[in-house]
Amino acid sequence: MAKKLYIKTYGCQMNVYDSERIAEVLAPLGYEATDQSAGADMVILNTCHIRERAAEKVYSELGRLRKHKNAMAAEGRHMVLAVTGCVAQAEGEEVLSRAPYVDIVFGPQTYHRLPQMIAEASRASGQVLDTEFPEESKFDGLPQARTVNGAAAFLTIQEGCDKFCTYCVVPYTRGAEFSRAATDVLSEARNLVAAGAQEITFLGQNVNSYHGEAPGGSAHGSEWNLARLIREAAQIDGLARIRFTTSYPAEVDDDLIAAHGDVEKLMPYLHLPVQSGSDRVLKAMNRNHGVDEYRRLVDKLRKARPDIALSSDFIVGFPGENDADFRATLKLVEEVSFIQAYSFKYSPRPGTPAAMMDLQIDEAVKSERLAELQALLNTQTQNFNNQMIGKTVPVLLDRTGKMAGQLIGRSPYMQAVVVDAPQNLMNCIVDVTIDAASPNSLMGTLNLDSRKACA
Ligand code: SAH
Ligand code: SF4
Ligand code: F3S
Repeated sequence: MAKKLYIKTYGCQMNVYDSERIAEVLAPLGYEATDQSAGADMVILNTCHIRERAAEKVYSELGRLRKHKNAMAAEGRHMVLAVTGCVAQAEGEEVLSRAPYVDIVFGPQTYHRLPQMIAEASRASGQVLDTEFPEESKFDGLPQARTVNGAAAFLTIQEGCDKFCTYCVVPYTRGAEFSRAATDVLSEARNLVAAGAQEITFLGQNVNSYHGEAPGGSAHGSEWNLARLIREAAQIDGLARIRFTTSYPAEVDDDLIAAHGDVEKLMPYLHLPVQSGSDRVLKAMNRNHGVDEYRRLVDKLRKARPDIALSSDFIVGFPGENDADFRATLKLVEEVSFIQAYSFKYSPRPGTPAAMMDLQIDEAVKSERLAELQALLNTQTQNFNNQMIGKTVPVLLDRTGKMAGQLIGRSPYMQAVVVDAPQNLMNCIVDVTIDAASPNSLMGTLNLDSRKACA
């Protein structure tokens, strides 16, 4: 009988990718996905450590899962409870001691060894901890064939971070920067397309620092950058759309800007986290870009691809941020205009330099600044969405809507678009004329003869 596997994913898209791969590793052992943790034979929490709240959520979820685990034990069944992701990597020992009913803790780089860990946990009936950064790459130990959930797929091409922004845990939880060989990435991309993907998003903590071994091997001595990889991926028949995230502004090179100008399959959307509009704060953050450099980069991108839409991340209340610094952030937002953004109150993370800095900002001040910034960002999103009304855009339909007869998809600019459409257009790219806009989505009418491509 099939065993039930429940995976709950927190954090970034890289975790979403890892969760999909973990399910693929476990499929040969007879595990099938379920959307209910109660009664599942194996429960995995794929966690995020980026802000304090993200990490604390894990412990409250573990408390809930303990009840399910006990209920199963009362029926003579066993739930294997595992924690992975960045909390596991950062504080694996602490997870095991705070939640002694957890069976396995493994890091984001070791899940290719999960079958052995499960065997070990059942034999030893103790706890298993594997948060090594192993010599071998997990990618070499994963199944070649890919499964997809819908027509838009993620593909991790780069992992880790060497940038050490002073507020950030990622360099510690994901380790040093590593790029997969171009041949491996392209073959996984082909496998995703064969499984039904029409859109692929290349992922990396710093995706544009990608420098993978060129086909032909390291004997060749050459490497490909992200732009080259995108150009090659664009040759794959059946792949309609390419995206990538997240980019580090200081490493956006001219090749990548040029690719935005002339690779048709590359979508006109770029997530380019700026964090702050104050040079003083950016310096203290160790971001390696100043405000003017960011502005110039945006100008170059818009010159290459006039309709490119930008999104960003912001941190307010970084240690030492004064009112003038914050005003400078608002000014930059006014100047650049973002169609979408994530903004956060600075959260001190253990072991990072900024957590030890003087002049930590008051919670109330952080909240005020966040509200003011978000009000401005939301207006920009709404304005961008409003100006889509009356336009016709290609939409990749990949989800069912809330109402019967509705499908939802993404515009080239990542907006969610809701249309009345027959179910057989699921996983197709269709033209939609936009009728109405809200901050979170667009509503439109299907152009009936527009079916472009279907998976
Ligand atoms: N690699 C990506 C970001 C990864 S984390 C990049 O360099 O942009 C995603 C976002 O979380 C960051 O862009 C930042 O805005 C936010 N973030 C990271 N650490 C944080 C902290 N300690 N407090 C608040 N926000 C944080
Ligand atoms: Fe964190 Fe900075 Fe690396 Fe992004 S670039 S993951 S914010 S250290
Ligand atoms: Fe969170 Fe780790 Fe991603 S800390 S944002 S899950 S890299």
